[in-house]
Amino acid sequence: MVDRDASVIAIDGPSASGKGTVSKRVAGRLGFHLLDSGALYRIAGFAAEERHIDLDDGPSIAAMLDRVDIMFCNDDLESQDGVVYLDGRRLGPELRTEEAGHAASRVAKLPEVRAALVDRQRAFQRLPGLVADGRDMGSVIFPQAELKIYLDASPEERAKRRYNQLKVKGIDVSLTALLADIEARDERDRNRETAPLAVAPGAHVIDTSQMGIEEAVSAVLELWRSR
Ligand code: DC
Repeated sequence: MVDRDASVIAIDGPSASGKGTVSKRVAGRLGFHLLDSGALYRIAGFAAEERHIDLDDGPSIAAMLDRVDIMFCNDDLESQDGVVYLDGRRLGPELRTEEAGHAASRVAKLPEVRAALVDRQRAFQRLPGLVADGRDMGSVIFPQAELKIYLDASPEERAKRRYNQLKVKGIDVSLTALLADIEARDERDRNRETAPLAVAPGAHVIDTSQMGIEEAVSAVLELWRSR
């Protein structure tokens, strides 16, 4: 049940800034629910491609999103990625590929797609509280959030992190190509007309370029306690 009184911590920032891991750990430590809003855009792109819907066709993707059943399973918040069920089918690594990220970024710029996902995202606001991870959590979806964080890191550092994550998974990619991809995605996410990636008013900016994940988690928890 949605509870408008439940606290919200909004954590926004560019891809590979560490916000996914930081959000999961903060939610785990506080016993809060977690919204991985990027996964919703990844599902939108993935499901559209699977159904051969053009990735520029906002109205058709929005209509498709109104029909599908999406369920998150965040039981193990310390594990790397949450599991998502699309119409009862378990989706894991296929949502986390660079290709799925690219499709997500394309559909995420369509206003119809963003509008179709607003209520699904707000439905995550439940007691005892929510950590919402995304690009527009503090600006559009939960402007009333009690704490807003903008996690950032240099494009070079983010490319290096992505490279190491993929390497662990046995995926071989070039660092130069990853950097170019991250810069292209930043550009698209920052310059789209609807809900662009930006520092929300009142957000605390944390640059994680020189920080370990635990340091970033502590910084967020400290801000939460001293709010
Ligand atoms: O956080 P991520 O890499 O899983 O996000 C995938 C894409 O979805 C990313 O290119 C930006 C987009 N996105 C968005 O536009 N708004 C959000 N709240 C979350 C993600």
